[in-house]
Amino acid sequence: MSVEEKYEELLQAVKSLAEGESDAVALMANVSSLIHYAMGFWWTGFYIVKPSADAARGSELVLGPFQGPVACTRIGYGRGVCGTAWKEKRTVIVPDVEQFPGHIACSSESRSEIVVPVFGPDGSVCAVLDIDSRELNTFSETDARYLEAIVLILAKIINE
Ligand code: SME
Repeated sequence: MSVEEKYEELLQAVKSLAEGESDAVALMANVSSLIHYAMGFWWTGFYIVKPSADAARGSELVLGPFQGPVACTRIGYGRGVCGTAWKEKRTVIVPDVEQFPGHIACSSESRSEIVVPVFGPDGSVCAVLDIDSRELNTFSETDARYLEAIVLILAKIINE
């Protein structure tokens, strides 16, 4: 099966899941599992924008539902790849994490990464989908396009 075919199947599966459930965490949990096992990634999960434990620091990304090894629990605005996608409100593809200044290494096995923002109704970022691979150059514009379509379905449901 081609990458496009796998993602087309994934999109349908996410649509079905979203029709039957409106709880954000439940949906994020099943969506991370679907993507992770369909595509064979190393780490697939969500970080959710929440008030910081230290109120003076505003909001931060807090670990949400994921599949894969234990990960960092909190990431600041503009920090690492996740914090950059949040700050710049765009999908960030990193072909080689060692070349990304400020990359947060939760796992020494991660070699390349993609982070896709999830937008709230007001256009602000409410979460990010973070996917890591153990190989270099795993993610392309095709991944970005399909993963953005997947998080759009998710966002529609969780923002209702
Ligand atoms: N590498 C990420 C941190 C999260 S872990 O990969 C799960 C980053 O720099 O944002």
